[in-house]
Parts: sequence; structure tokens; C-alpha cells
Amino acid sequence: MKKKRWPRIFGIGALVLILALGLFIAYAYLLLPDVKLQDITAEQTPGRIERGRYLAHHVAVCMDCHSTRDWSRFSGPPMAGTIGKGGEIFDEKMGFPGSYASPNITPYHLSTWSDAEIYRAIVSGVSKDGSPLFPIMPYPLYAKMDTEDILSVVAYLRTLPSIAHEVPRSTPTFPMSLVLHFIPEKAQPQPVPAPTDTLLYGGYLVNAAGCIECHTPVEHGRIIEDLAFSGGRTFQLPEGLLTSTNITPDPQTGIGSWSEEQFVTRFKVFLPSQYSLPTVPPGQMQTNMPWTMYAGMDTTDLQAMYHFLKSVKPVQNMVTRFKPFK
Ligand code: HEC
Ligand code: HEC
Repeated sequence: MKKKRWPRIFGIGALVLILALGLFIAYAYLLLPDVKLQDITAEQTPGRIERGRYLAHHVAVCMDCHSTRDWSRFSGPPMAGTIGKGGEIFDEKMGFPGSYASPNITPYHLSTWSDAEIYRAIVSGVSKDGSPLFPIMPYPLYAKMDTEDILSVVAYLRTLPSIAHEVPRSTPTFPMSLVLHFIPEKAQPQPVPAPTDTLLYGGYLVNAAGCIECHTPVEHGRIIEDLAFSGGRTFQLPEGLLTSTNITPDPQTGIGSWSEEQFVTRFKVFLPSQYSLPTVPPGQMQTNMPWTMYAGMDTTDLQAMYHFLKSVKPVQNMVTRFKPFK
């Protein structure tokens, strides 16, 4: 008699587990993400639009991902006439769990969105219909930006020429399709530090610019905080394997021996007024670092970023920047 009871208890146990799992999944799909819309509007003032343009093109580089990049030229500058049009694909071939397309962020797509909805998408990764966005767009970093800065970007987006361009919806694969529901969180805005407070101000810009995303190795899709800015993240480009460099202050393998001027010049040479970007023949080094966009940053902002990066923990890590596929 006793022997028979165990299978039944296991059976009930398994049933309870399956039920709990089902409830958990239903909870995630039906009730998450749970990020409420804030009562905010982005009134369009000239100052805001100008600040928004600066951030969208040169700091947070929204237009790096939401425009069509000209990969025949070094660092893939965004092409004129495609600003905000979307349609860049990030898929499994590049190591992403699914296929993600950058949406159109010109008024063609966003004119029916409220300012609060656009704000929430940028800082929390929740689309207008409440669905979660994949953090290819570094919204956990934008979440720490000054609300006024994000509203400036929103005000600027409203001024973009509308481009009629339909973008396919993203299709995350399981289990990412489930995990995504747990990622969006409320923004934790911090005010822009005073520019005289160089380290804090530089840190604010480095966060907004997403440098950490590309310049830190990842494990299971997450950056390894302990190795922040030490480089070594790899990207499969058609031309070869690209690896981000070490931008910690390590003197041998990082930027420890760079002067402030060297650092600033490394960016400023990519200004269109200084330099005509070469085309990249097959097999030659190509990069995804949006040099031409960051080159438009104010010199004082680049200097502040330099001082912040010189203050982070040095990590020794020598990388080979580019290995062409033969
Ligand atoms: C590294 C690439 C990248 C950067 C930088 C980036 N985005 Fe995105 N953005 C994306 C991708 C990809 C998606 C879609 C994600 C998905 O479908 O899961 C997206 C989604 C959005 C959405 C939601 C649209 C919708 O229909 O749901 C908005 C709005 C948006 N981005 C605006 C911005 C703004 C403004 C910035 C700059 C502050 C920015 N993005 C920076 C890649 C990027
Ligand atoms: C989309 C990914 C990406 C982003 C975002 C990015 N980088 Fe890079 N960066 C790279 C890659 C890849 C390289 C190596 C190839 C090259 O030199 O272009 C690189 C190279 C560099 C170098 C040259 C280092 C050397 O030893 O020559 C510096 C300096 C640098 N990045 C700083 C930054 C800073 C500061 C930020 C943020 C403002 C940033 N990067 C954002 C990908 C990125």
C-alpha cells in the first residue's frame, strides 16, 4: 500500500510545479513590464531642440543605430537623408538572441506617440503598446540621464523630417522573449553635473555615450563590471573580427600614457571639416565605433570624458583590434 503513494505524491508535485510555472509565465507576459507613464511633456524650445540634436548626434548617438550607415566608408557614417529612418538589423549572425530592427524614430512613426511614451521607450525600454524592448539600445544607461536631457532629445525628434519607411517588428527567440519582460525599470534620473566638476561631468557623458557597452567584455549577454572599459568585446564584421580596445588607464595596454590632447585629437580628426573618410576595400580594417558622430562633441566634453576614463580602475588587457577574414 505505502509503496504506491509516492508516485502519486510526485505526480501531484509535478502538476503543482507545472501550474506554478504556467502562472509565472502568464504573469510575465500579461503584467510585465510594469512601468507607468509619467506626467511629462517636451515643450519645444530652441534651446531644447539644439541640446537634443547635440545629444542625439554626438553623445547618446541615437542616429548611429536609427539611420542607415554607409559601411563602404570607414566607421560607417550615417547617410544623409536617412536620419532617424531606422531599419538597421541586429540579428543572430551578429550574436543576438533573435532579430531586432531599429525602429523609425522620425515623426512618420512617432507622431501618434505622446512625449511621455517616447520618454518611457528611451529610458525604460517599453514601447507604446507596453511591450518590452531589447537593450541593444542602452536604455539602462539612458535611465540615469537628466530628465531634461531626454526631453530635449524628444523635442528634437519631433523636428526630424518625416521619412516614410516601415521597419519589421523585432522577433526575440525564447527564452529571451520571456526574459525581456523583466528588464524594463523605472528611470533613475540624475541631474547633469556642473562642468567644473570634471570627473562627475565626464562620467555623466561617458554613461550617456554608452562607451562601456562596446568597451567591456560580456558574459551571457551581460557586461563584466570588474573589467569595465578594458576592451576585448568582439564584433563579427563582413571584413573580419573587430575587437574593442582597452580604454582604462593601464599604461601599457590602455590609454594611461595618452595626453588629454592626444585623446581629443583622436576624435577630432574625424570631423568632416578635417578629413575625408576613406572607403574601406575588402579585407581592410573597418570599425563600428561611431568616430564621426563623437567627433562632433565639444572639446571640453571630450576632455571631461578623458579625465573620467583616467580615473577608472586600470585593467591590463592587450587586444588585437582587427583580424581580417581571409
Ligand atoms: C545601439 C543602438 C541604438 C542606440 C544607440 C539607440 N537605439 Fe533606439 N532602439 C534600437 C533598437 C534596436 C530598438 C528596437 C528594440 C526592440 O525592438 O526590441 C530601439 C528602439 C527605440 C525606440 C522605440 C520605438 C518603438 O517603436 O518601440 C525609440 C523611441 C528609440 N529607440 C529612440 C532612441 C533614441 C532617442 C536614442 C538616443 C537617445 C536611441 N534610440 C539610441 C537601437 C538603438
Ligand atoms: C559601437 C561600439 C563602440 C562604442 C559605442 C564606442 N566604441 Fe570606442 N572603439 C570601438 C572599437 C571596436 C574600437 C577599436 C577599433 C577602432 O579603433 O575603431 C574602438 C576604439 C576606441 C579608441 C581607440 C583606442 C586606441 O587604442 O586606439 C578610443 C580612444 C575609444 N574607442 C574610446 C571610446 C569612447 C570614449 C567611447 C564613448 C564615447 C567609445 N569608444 C564608444 C567600439 C566602440
